[in-house]
Amino acid sequence: MARVLVAVAGGAAALKAPHLLRLLRARGHEVRVLATPRALEFITPLSLAVAAGGEVATEEAWFRPDGRALHIELARWAEAVLVAPATADAMAKAALGLADDLLSATLLAGAKRVAWAPAMNEAMWLSPQTQAHAERLKALGHALFGPAYGPLAAAGEGEGWGRMLEPEELVERLEALLAPKDLKGLRLLVSAGPTREYLDPVRFLSNPSSGRMGYAVAEAARDRGAEVVLVSGPTALPDPWGMEVVQVESALEMRQAILDRYPWAEAVVMAAAVADYRPAETLKEKEPKVEAERLLRLVPNPDILKELGERKEGRILVGFAMETGEGLERAREKLRRKNLDLIALNWVNREGVGFGSLENQVVLLLRDGRVLELPRMRKREVAERILDLVKELRG
Ligand code: PMT
Repeated sequence: MARVLVAVAGGAAALKAPHLLRLLRARGHEVRVLATPRALEFITPLSLAVAAGGEVATEEAWFRPDGRALHIELARWAEAVLVAPATADAMAKAALGLADDLLSATLLAGAKRVAWAPAMNEAMWLSPQTQAHAERLKALGHALFGPAYGPLAAAGEGEGWGRMLEPEELVERLEALLAPKDLKGLRLLVSAGPTREYLDPVRFLSNPSSGRMGYAVAEAARDRGAEVVLVSGPTALPDPWGMEVVQVESALEMRQAILDRYPWAEAVVMAAAVADYRPAETLKEKEPKVEAERLLRLVPNPDILKELGERKEGRILVGFAMETGEGLERAREKLRRKNLDLIALNWVNREGVGFGSLENQVVLLLRDGRVLELPRMRKREVAERILDLVKELRG
C-alpha cells in the first residue's frame, strides 16, 4: 500500500477523479488530492475532498501563514504522484522543469514516482510538442498511462487518441508501477482458458474455464517485472496490457503457439484447461439435426505440458492439476510424469473455487517433496504465491 498524491489538472476527465480516489482508498492506499484552478472549473473541491477523505491542496493553500510550503510537503509525503487527468500544459511544464504553480512545483520538488494519465484533444496529444514532452518525461523516469483511443469529451470531437484511461485501469497500472520488480528479466510463458474442439462450424466440446487463474499469473508476473507471453483459449476477459497475448481456440492451436515460443521461455505456467480429446473429424458444413442417437468418435489431444517436460533443458515448468477426489496422489503422479517443478492441485467440485470463480484453493506440490497447503484466496494471491516459488527455483 502506498501514499498516493492524485493531481487533478483541468479537463473534462477531472469528473472521474472522485471515482479514482475512492478506488485507491478501497485498495488500501493513503491518498491526498491536489487540484489546479482549471480542474476546479470542472469539479468542486467538496467532491474531491469527500472522495479523498481530506482537504484538497489548491493554489490558494500553497504557502501557509506559518511559512511552510505545500509543494515541498507534498513531494516529501507522496510515494507516488498520479496526474489524472494530465493536460498538455502540465506535461510541458514538468518536461521543461517550470515551477510556477503548485502542481509543477510539487513535481520539481523531488516527487518520487510520477505517472501521467493524459487526457486531451487528439491533435494536442499527437502534436510534436506534446510528443517530445512525453518522451522527455519518460526519459526522466516518469510513467505514461495511456491515453486510449475512444470518445473524446469536447463537443464535436468524436473519437480519437486522447481519452484518459478508466480509473480501474489507472489503479492497476499504478500498482504495477509500485510493485517490487523481483522477477525482472524472467521470460515467462503462461497458458490460460479453455480450448474448443469443433465438431462442425457451430458445435464444439469445451469446459467452463474462465481464464482468470492464468490471466492472474500473467498479470502478477508482468507487475513484478517479467516479460510475459500469454497464450489464451477463448475467454470473456480483455487482453491484459504490457504483454504479448496470443489468442487460440483448439488444443492443437494452443500446442503450436506454445511450442513456437518455448525456445524463448525460461519458465512456463500451464493454467489452461486443455481438452484431452477432440472429435475424430471436424465437418466443414453445419450438420443437420437428425432424430436419432448419435455416436461421437474422439481422438486424444497431445499432452502439451508432457511434451514441454520431455524437452525441458533447464526451464521451470509449472502445471495445474484439476481433480475431483482428494487428488494428492494423482497430482504427484502428474508432477513426475510431466517432469514438472511444481504443480498446483485444485478441485473442480468445491463451491466458490476453481473453474470460473474469483478465488481458488490450491495445494502446491514441489519436485523436492514439499507440500504447501494454501487457504482459499483470490486468484491473484494464488498467482503471487506460485510466482514466489518460481523466483525461488530460479535462484
Ligand atoms: O480459468 P479459470 O476459470 O480461472 O479456472 C482455472 C482452472 C481450474 C482451469 C486452473 O486452475 C486449472 O486447474 N487448470 C488446469 C486444468 C487441467 O487441465 O488440469 P489437468 O489435471 O487435466 O491437467 C494437468 C496439466 O496438464 C495442466 O497444467 C494442463 O494445462 C496440462 N495439460 C492437460 C491436458 C493436455 N492435453 N495438455 C496439457 O498441457
